[in-house]
Amino acid sequence: MSGSTAPLIDVQDLRVHFRLPGQGWFGRGKLSVRAVDGVSIAIRRGQTVGLVGESGCGKSTTGRAILRLAPITGGRVSLDGTDLAGLSSDAMRRARRRMQIVFQDPFASLNPRHTVEQIVSEPLRVHDLRRPAERLGRVRELLELVGLPASSLGRYPHEFSGGQRQRIGIARAIATEPDFIVLDEPVSALDVSIQAQILRLLLDLQMQFGLTYLFIAHDLAVVGQMSDEVCVMYLGRIVERASREALYSSPQHPYTQALLSAVPYPDPVIEATRRRVILTGEVPSPVAPPPGCHFHTRCPIALDRCRVEVPALREVSDGRFAACHLAGSVLGAPAEAR
Ligand SMILES: Nc1ncnc2c1ncn2[C@@H]1O[C@H](COP(=O)(O)OP(=O)(O)OP(=O)(O)O)[C@@H](O)[C@H]1O
Ligand code: SF4
Ligand SMILES: [Mg+2]
Repeated sequence: MSGSTAPLIDVQDLRVHFRLPGQGWFGRGKLSVRAVDGVSIAIRRGQTVGLVGESGCGKSTTGRAILRLAPITGGRVSLDGTDLAGLSSDAMRRARRRMQIVFQDPFASLNPRHTVEQIVSEPLRVHDLRRPAERLGRVRELLELVGLPASSLGRYPHEFSGGQRQRIGIARAIATEPDFIVLDEPVSALDVSIQAQILRLLLDLQMQFGLTYLFIAHDLAVVGQMSDEVCVMYLGRIVERASREALYSSPQHPYTQALLSAVPYPDPVIEATRRRVILTGEVPSPVAPPPGCHFHTRCPIALDRCRVEVPALREVSDGRFAACHLAGSVLGAPAEAR
């Protein structure tokens, strides 16, 4: 973490609504998927913010929208204090060089007909970095940084294991010397033993180059290993945000409490008091999310007001934010323990 307090990435009230096909062109009330519905995230330089939540809650869309890879319906994204929406196309190109992404499925995200040299040198060509004669040397350097032998250069993605393919994706992402990388479930597709190696590599690269990460995952244990701060997402909104320590030791939102109750905690004292909270019911559709608190259909302690009043994400104690009417009052321990 750096001493600088200004965020490198500042996302304010981000919205991404995908209109469903066949919904017509005029008037209000058209159906859309509210994939991201008012998300704010600030990430300081050198820091990792984890973004966690169940499948379909809008994690990838958030990451992609920050990089302008998904269409933004509302809100703003700033890089180093500059609103990306106001940039000229030249300035946007330069900003893009500073922001990269590593995808969940290294196989799908690497062109099977391209060699490793072509894949890793592509961002250098696109952003016109290094003289053409120097690019091969740079690719060799990048392969060494991610722990791949120089003999990989002329080989194709299918010739590598899952972990090695993810190393190729990481080499491609760091080729432009970015400041910020969205890591979209970078280890979810890998065996557990390989996951640890890739996470170690990502931490080493972060230390070496002062990288800033948005680390997306559905696995709370993995997010906990990687993040300084964690945001918990539910149906397009952030329901809790806190430092890793605060979130894992005393989650404030009933949804976080339920998620965490399934994850063993390394501290034996906290682990001894852990209670399993079983969530019932399906995640509602983001096309028609429940009114009031989105979580009220599954919340074990929902009140009548939860069905009508949207809880704001508010600071419930020092640096801990939760979007729950009850957070900071009766909440603090898992529901079954109260
Ligand atoms: N291009 C699109 N058009 C329409 N709907 C989309 C599009 N992309 C995503 N969605 C929808 O937006 C919602 C959020 O999807 P997203 O991929 O961001 O979730 P996620 O949290 O990353 O899920 P997962 O853990 O499965 O990767 C889902 O309901 C998804 O179906
Ligand atoms: S606002 Fe109500 S429904 Fe939502 S999490 Fe809090 S108690 Fe549960
Ligand atoms: Mg995703």
